[in-house]
Amino acid sequence: MLKVGGDVRLGLVVGQEEIAVGIPTDKKSVLPRHLGIMGTTGGGKSTTVAGLVHQLQQAGVATILIDVEGEYTEIDLPTADPPMLTALHRRELTPAGAKNLRVLHLVGRDTSREAPGGLVKPFCLRFSDLSPYAVMEILDLPPAQQERFLKAYDTLKLVLKDLNIFPQRGEEQQAFAIDELETGYPRMTLLQLIDVAGVFTEIAANSKEEKSKGKNTEAGEFPRAFNLVSPELRGKEPSIKQRAAVAQAPGNVISWRGLLGKLWRVQRLQVFDNSKASRLDHASLLQPGSISVIDLSDTDSPQVNNLVIADLLRGVQKQQEENAQKAEAAKKHPTPVVVIIEEAHEFLSAQRISQMPVLFQQVAKIAKRGRKRWLGLVFVTQLPQHLPDEVLGLINNFILHKIADGGVVDRLRKSISGIDKGQWSMLPGLAPGQAVVSLTSMTRPLLVSIDPTPCKLKLVE
Ligand SMILES: Nc1ncnc2c1ncn2[C@@H]1O[C@H](COP(=O)(O)OP(=O)(O)OP(=O)(O)O)[C@@H](O)[C@H]1O
Ligand SMILES: [Mg+2]
Repeated sequence: MLKVGGDVRLGLVVGQEEIAVGIPTDKKSVLPRHLGIMGTTGGGKSTTVAGLVHQLQQAGVATILIDVEGEYTEIDLPTADPPMLTALHRRELTPAGAKNLRVLHLVGRDTSREAPGGLVKPFCLRFSDLSPYAVMEILDLPPAQQERFLKAYDTLKLVLKDLNIFPQRGEEQQAFAIDELETGYPRMTLLQLIDVAGVFTEIAANSKEEKSKGKNTEAGEFPRAFNLVSPELRGKEPSIKQRAAVAQAPGNVISWRGLLGKLWRVQRLQVFDNSKASRLDHASLLQPGSISVIDLSDTDSPQVNNLVIADLLRGVQKQQEENAQKAEAAKKHPTPVVVIIEEAHEFLSAQRISQMPVLFQQVAKIAKRGRKRWLGLVFVTQLPQHLPDEVLGLINNFILHKIADGGVVDRLRKSISGIDKGQWSMLPGLAPGQAVVSLTSMTRPLLVSIDPTPCKLKLVE
């Protein structure tokens, strides 16, 4: 009657321990309509996520976990935490690691994994995969720098065409079809953009206005024999200068230098177009029963994290679109995919969304398309009050752990329907591991004691 069945077991109903509550992964109406796991620090979110991942793997779902803190890089090992072992024993569950785990970390950054063995691989980002508009938002460029970024970007496109880098013969159609709100420009690199921005900076520095100010003429900073840094453009100064000269670029060397500084800061992280690692292979991330932990614990930069998340979501969505088409042709449904975003408030806070409309539009689009394509997003956060209504509005399933602050409970009540007054009032008093669970598959929300996790969680400070 309660319709609590599902192949991914979450836990037992509080007070009616004979009733197990699960998520049916074979119903398009549940996971592809997205899930929020929310609660105050210590409420039990990570334990819930680790158990969920373990079970999703067994159910054959392709799971991708964006691990901002590096907590999940050893979930292929059984838990050894004494309280967790006791809790497992009480429920007649046994410790066990999750199978088919792969840990992916940005090239040049560490993984939090210390245990020997395991599949650990670096990856890089490709500048050409990211929408220039998303990049501008993520780098938080002020309007003057945005204008110059786009000028350099558009000029570089012409240079790439002149140099026959892209489009090459037969690729004109592909060039025509590029949607710059979605993706970048094929074969374009960040270093090339730095080169073009450098040429513009030099032009601005040598302009009459700047000279008349008597500033910016110090030799050394931008020497006349300007060295291009990207291998594809090196030795091709005339091509760039020619294009730059007719580009009618805005002057103001300070803005140009500001832009260059930001581009260099990202370049120095060496996460873009690094030959020591390949980009994420989205097809392999979508293998049935695979777990891919994207370990971002060593990046120290929300901006880089957001670049990775943006790239990942777009790539996964594109690949799943293809997979879904193939499956449909064969009259089957594709392998369900679940992407779990830990610390979701850092990626999608209200403040960020107002600053990053393009990125948010991408997420919203993925969320909407995901419903038809068996692609579910899971947003995990200890600060649900920072998630704007637009994001909450995308989520139809909730696991609500303890939420200590009554004000936050009130705010959530306004955007989440179906949970009754009595259940809302329980949230501040929940014990670790307890949660109000509301799934589209269930007749009504229930208070659930979530199963302890059999997998090892890494302790993070
Ligand atoms: N389902 C559970 N069964 C038994 N114990 C649990 C359960 N969930 C949580 N606990 C206990 O509560 C502790 C904190 O849980 P957890 O780390 O999952 O919380 P969290 O919400 O992720 O916290 P944070 O916001 O700090 O990341 C665990 O170490 C464990 O002792
Ligand atoms: Mg946690």
